[in-house]
Amino acid sequence: MSEQDIIRVMIVDDITETRENLKKLLLFERGVEVVGAAASGEEGIALGKQLRPDVVLMDINMPGIDGISAGEILTREVPGLQIIMMSVQGEADYLRRSMLAGAREFLIKPFSADELITSIRRVYELGRQPPLAAVASRPASPGSHPGTPYANTIHPATPQPPPTRTGRIIAAFGAKGGVGTSTLIANLAIALQEVRKGTRIALLDGDFQFGDIGVLLNLNRARSIIDLCEHIDELDAQFIADVMTNHPSGLKVLLAPPSPEMADLITIEHLKSILAALRDHFDYVLIDTPTSFGESTLTLLDGADIVLLITTPEIPAIKNATLFFDVSEQLKYDEEKVLLLLNKYDPRTGITAEAIRASIKHPIFAAVSREDRIVNTAINQGLPFVLTQPRSQVSLDVVQLAKMLVAVPGDEPALTPAVSTAAPQPVKKRSLFGKLLNR
Ligand SMILES: Nc1ncnc2c1ncn2[C@@H]1O[C@H](COP(=O)(O)OP(=O)(O)O)[C@@H](O)[C@H]1O
Ligand SMILES: [Mg+2]
Repeated sequence: MSEQDIIRVMIVDDITETRENLKKLLLFERGVEVVGAAASGEEGIALGKQLRPDVVLMDINMPGIDGISAGEILTREVPGLQIIMMSVQGEADYLRRSMLAGAREFLIKPFSADELITSIRRVYELGRQPPLAAVASRPASPGSHPGTPYANTIHPATPQPPPTRTGRIIAAFGAKGGVGTSTLIANLAIALQEVRKGTRIALLDGDFQFGDIGVLLNLNRARSIIDLCEHIDELDAQFIADVMTNHPSGLKVLLAPPSPEMADLITIEHLKSILAALRDHFDYVLIDTPTSFGESTLTLLDGADIVLLITTPEIPAIKNATLFFDVSEQLKYDEEKVLLLLNKYDPRTGITAEAIRASIKHPIFAAVSREDRIVNTAINQGLPFVLTQPRSQVSLDVVQLAKMLVAVPGDEPALTPAVSTAAPQPVKKRSLFGKLLNR
């Protein structure tokens, strides 16, 4: 290996022992050299500017300037420098903040020498590539496959594996709790069945602690995703069908665990296997996710082909939607992957769609009207409003959204922003809705 290929690493951690341990781990690693170590964020910034290392191993929790702020300053001031953030488990919010600060990887302590070295080599390679085009054409990293020893590593910058699957995964993510994520995705799933008759549609409740899908669709059943996790090597069509709950509309639902603490039993590897299996057995897999950047939510979002980012015309939700687009850039999601959906839209009050689009700097893919009475009544009855109130504006909007999502080349263009003052298109066929309503 030539002199040029030595990866120059700097360590920033306030705990002496950690710095020494990291040095030891890297001591005999070929092609990696620890060029400096700093005991605080301030020192790290100064030393980083002076040494200009290729990779910085940065602790988050330090007195004074924390690792996230120090990393942000360093990535800005030293071009080409790559940051790997290090933190202990259970600090999910740090991941998101780290990514916003430009970190390439996030290692959860304790991590192994293998994980550390793999991460260093990966971010170094990423740093040498031009940002988007080259990264997009890279093969999937080993860490994105189940069964590899990288379970403790989260890769904000890891390119997505190439699409080789059959079903399409659409995950809904709320910019803020309460924007209507669960309500919309449940109704969208049912609307999709009508729009694409004969397709197999699954709805996965990805809010493993406080999943609402069971209540929203009035489904009470003992089986949940936990049953799949317990038999993860046996995910054949029959077993999956047995575990999923049937909604009267024909929708198959994979419910969240019956109690919050059971969420801990679901691992990232479980989730990857379950997503792969659902993709094999369904044409569309819709996922409700909680508003957090926990590992499991990120796994669901990573695995999705489309992320519906849901916001409402309120400042905090708009602000978070903007943040989400920044994060999705860090996650190297294709620009077309994240579609902005404006819920609870009422052109007569609040912030206009145009102002929201201008603020978030992304087109609004579709808007769903605010209809408090209809939506709340439907929720309290455990009946989706697309079935109980198919002619209401909110239902027409959701059906229109479903049509836009399934639009294929040759159909009407999928990406036409749906926010307009034009009258909504009537729903032509309503047989499923009608059938269910007349039950
Ligand atoms: N289009 C809408 N119009 C009026 N109220 C809505 C609409 N969509 C959702 N809501 C209301 O918003 C609240 C939160 O919905 P929920 O689906 O639980 O949000 P989230 O999953 O994002 O936390 C519910 O009370 C629901 O009735
Ligand atoms: Mg929800």
